[in-house]
Amino acid sequence: MGRVVVVSNRVAVPRRGEPSAGGLAVALKDVLKASGGLWFGWSGETRRNPSLEPRQVRSGGIDYATIDLSDEDHKGFYAGYSNNTLWPLFHFRLGLMEYDRAEAASYRKVNRDFAQALLPLLTPEDTVWIHDYQLIPMAAELRALGARQRIGFFLHIPFPPFAVLSALPDAEQLLRDLLAYDLVGVQTKRDLAGMINCFQDGLGLTPDATGGVRGEVAGVQRRTQLSAHPIGIDTRGFATLARKAAYGPETQRLIASMGDRSLIVGAERLDYTKGLPHRMRGFAALLAKFPEHLNRVTYLQVAARSRNEVASYRNLRRELDTLAGRINGDYAEFDWTPVRYVARAVARETLAGFYRAARVGLVTPLRDGMNLVAKEYVAAQDPEDPGVLVLSSFAGAAETMEGALLVNPLDAEAMAETLDRALKMPLAERRERWESMMRGLEEQTATRWAESFLAELEELPLPEQDLLSA
Ligand code: F6P
Repeated sequence: MGRVVVVSNRVAVPRRGEPSAGGLAVALKDVLKASGGLWFGWSGETRRNPSLEPRQVRSGGIDYATIDLSDEDHKGFYAGYSNNTLWPLFHFRLGLMEYDRAEAASYRKVNRDFAQALLPLLTPEDTVWIHDYQLIPMAAELRALGARQRIGFFLHIPFPPFAVLSALPDAEQLLRDLLAYDLVGVQTKRDLAGMINCFQDGLGLTPDATGGVRGEVAGVQRRTQLSAHPIGIDTRGFATLARKAAYGPETQRLIASMGDRSLIVGAERLDYTKGLPHRMRGFAALLAKFPEHLNRVTYLQVAARSRNEVASYRNLRRELDTLAGRINGDYAEFDWTPVRYVARAVARETLAGFYRAARVGLVTPLRDGMNLVAKEYVAAQDPEDPGVLVLSSFAGAAETMEGALLVNPLDAEAMAETLDRALKMPLAERRERWESMMRGLEEQTATRWAESFLAELEELPLPEQDLLSA
């Protein structure tokens, strides 16, 4: 296999003094290192007149190339179309989706800029792997500039059916953009069904017997393979991290502060897809419905602030501040705070220890591509005395984590009953459930995910026209 070139909006360039990268970044770095690869994307910086000449650094056997965005494109491409149009749309939240033609144009322009900046760095033998909703049109822009390399795309978030996607004025264009890829991967069977439904109802394309659709892109007949590749974590690595962190000062302080109460933990970006208000209401329902848990259980929610430039995120922050205050006002005792709400990021290492200390991991998104916190919570557990995962049936992880207690986050009473069951679950059942989930996590790691996606991409034939003229 030739060199792998990964493209994503955010690039995990190693920086001194920064916390270690997450499982996904580690897996991508492994495949990049093995092929002497390149990781390309946005620098995270904005400036007035950015150049399309990428800044390049080499670190740990990997080349990193990044470009800056203009303030205008940060607003239109990132805060606007990516995170205020596509993000709510792909998470089935049509009521939160906004659409603005100027932002749609900025999205396309940034994808064109990315393609233009990357093209000179590519060699004919490279395999290009583009990630996530911010960059759907990038392959079409690369093809328009003459790129013939194999190009794969992976969508980390859910793929809704056409009944939802069609709310987007550019839905058909976006689907046609996907035809520029040789392989489009999604997280779950449910997402694959959504994507196939979109091709059928949106473009009238039905997959062939081996799961590919055909269409013309830049004058070339192409076939695009569609498949599901559920992402995993570095299971062993995270388990080791949690084992060590359990003796660290933060986890020890947390344990000491709990006394003999049980801990329920949740941790994510402060994002409306994560169902945080529903979770808080579910916890309040637990206290109302099962008073034996009063002063016996504490719920720690870490919510790392995110995308503050988007109004719906600022509104969510206000809603959570109010809810946490209300629940504590209603139920707290002078020596017990039921909800510990931390609205900022906490280091991965620290979280690993908190997960291990928690009797229940509460992961209840309203929609989620996969949800790696669910997997990390399980990997972090003590095999002798594991905790219970309470998981939303709307997380991609629910498709394979059969040992979890599944819950519909919209039903606060059901969440209360499930939490009660989790808190009372006997050790033998906890172990059995945990072991079954751990077996799955050990098989389906982040590295396996990356390798299997790239192996499928490598095996696909190039378009005939390209082979004839090669
Ligand atoms: O997993 C979805 C995702 O949007 C990634 O593409 C992204 O890097 C991450 O969440 C964090 O979001 P953001 O880059 O907008 O801060």
